[in-house]
Amino acid sequence: MRIDIISIFPPLLAGVFEHSIIKRVRDRGIVDIQVHDLRDYTTDRHRTVDDYPYGGGAGMVMKPEPWFRAVESLRMQGSAGRAILLTPQGQQLNQRVVQRLASEDRLIILCGRYEGVDERVAERLVDEEISIGDYVLSGGEPAAVVLVDAIVRLQPGALGSSESIVEETFMEGLLEYPQYTRPPEFRGWRVPDILLSGDHGAVDEWRRQRQIERTRERRPDLWAKLSNSDDDVIETTT
Ligand SMILES: C[S@@+](CC[C@H](N)C(=O)[O-])C[C@H]1O[C@@H](n2cnc3c(N)ncnc32)[C@H](O)[C@@H]1O
Repeated sequence: MRIDIISIFPPLLAGVFEHSIIKRVRDRGIVDIQVHDLRDYTTDRHRTVDDYPYGGGAGMVMKPEPWFRAVESLRMQGSAGRAILLTPQGQQLNQRVVQRLASEDRLIILCGRYEGVDERVAERLVDEEISIGDYVLSGGEPAAVVLVDAIVRLQPGALGSSESIVEETFMEGLLEYPQYTRPPEFRGWRVPDILLSGDHGAVDEWRRQRQIERTRERRPDLWAKLSNSDDDVIETTT
């Protein structure tokens, strides 16, 4: 998979992808991540990427020309890929969206700044708009890091054990069960006895029940979706 990220602050992204799972995946050639400076696609002496908004109002808006030049030029190198504009107005990111994007062969991610990007970029250049949540960041770079991290760890070979993905929070629409490690007792707080019992069937059942309980309590929205779906996950509830 190839991921191109376009930003006016490439140094904000330098280093972020050089550690842990993302580094391993890059080193193994599973994902190729390239960061590009939007200003390299300007044509004026001042490398201008923004201008005043038509109709007035506060702040500056990112001009369309550098974005079109950047994406069109990147698309000439390899497959067209799927271009994504990061914006608080986009579809909200969730694990289903991450899974869908993780199966693309190439993503081109556009990080906005200032008051946002000329609407023609959203309407005519990108394939979709993604938000990482209902809050406003000062730029798309932190959102790009979130998106890339979530996508990269789903690539085959990224994690040590494929099970670690299968059982994770959201993968079946449920939150994950509580996890414990040694010591078995810390400050008088014991790990649930069942986890120390060695009875795998009982452990599985205990975990399933905790997943259901947690999802119901903490994320009634997720629980309602599951209850309305054909998924047999909740048939195990009592
Ligand atoms: C200050 S924001 C612009 C917000 C815009 N004026 C609005 O109200 O929708 C600057 C840039 O940060 C990025 N950004 C901000 N919040 C985001 C979010 N929740 N998800 C994804 N990107 C976000 C976008 O790329 C955006 O163009």
